[in-house]
Amino acid sequence: MPYVTESNLTDVARERWSNIPDPRLREIMTALVKHVHAFVREIEPTQAEWATAIDWLTRTGKLCTDKRQEFILFSDVLGVSMLMDAINNRLDNGATPTTVEGPFHVPASPEFADGADMAKNAPGVPCFVTGTVRDLDGKPVAGASLDVWQTDGEGLYEAQRDVEGPWLRGVFRTRADGSFAIRTVVPISYTIPMDGTVGELVERTNISHYRPAHIHFVVEAPGYHRIVTHLFRRGDRYIDNDVVYGVKEPLIVDFKEVPGGKAPNGETLESAFYEVNYDFVLQKAAIAKAA
Ligand SMILES: [Fe+2]
Repeated sequence: MPYVTESNLTDVARERWSNIPDPRLREIMTALVKHVHAFVREIEPTQAEWATAIDWLTRTGKLCTDKRQEFILFSDVLGVSMLMDAINNRLDNGATPTTVEGPFHVPASPEFADGADMAKNAPGVPCFVTGTVRDLDGKPVAGASLDVWQTDGEGLYEAQRDVEGPWLRGVFRTRADGSFAIRTVVPISYTIPMDGTVGELVERTNISHYRPAHIHFVVEAPGYHRIVTHLFRRGDRYIDNDVVYGVKEPLIVDFKEVPGGKAPNGETLESAFYEVNYDFVLQKAAIAKAA
């Protein structure tokens, strides 16, 4: 092995990591050495800056618990979470696009009947979400499940409230004609948690720390590619600068205000409410190739 110099060090390290037996680990680690060395060569950190970075990463790790994941939040604000989502969900152009799951999904939400109210007595303006689940040919997908979660009308998720769940979450199923109806409340835009190391970093920038108002969905049916996505409110002040880069044009929907009267689930409301209509399009799941 040659003795190291500033100019040959990257090659020496890559060479060492290119001789390990596991091919995938070898691919990952040689690329990591290549890009981290290039990053350090480009920015030429001082020892003090290096110590600051190590301290920041250490504190970020210490903030993580089973309820909080500051590293995922860091990945979100760098756009890496959305890049991961894009790489792992290369769908047909006609299919509903995916977006990040985010940290507030709670598994095993209760099932609701078609048209039922998943908001119960939560604060917020009533909102009815209706539509269909279809395949790429426009054929209705009956019995598809829609796992739905969102903020209440004050911008808070269940995990941020001191409540016995479920709070603003539930599972709905499509009818035989592929249609569904959900009663909820209008979600509002909200900030990512700013009391940790990611907040500390974002505070030193002019980057917005808000997400535009949205409703989360996981839509799935046997034989189809499962999609994790959101519907975003058109006109939201943060629609063009979502802090986690989650917005895609086909996912922006109108929240139409109705002065009162008959709602899509058959109820009659005296006060104003909102209606959202959206048709989710699923594509068939890829069939695994025989080895
Ligand atoms: Fe969210």
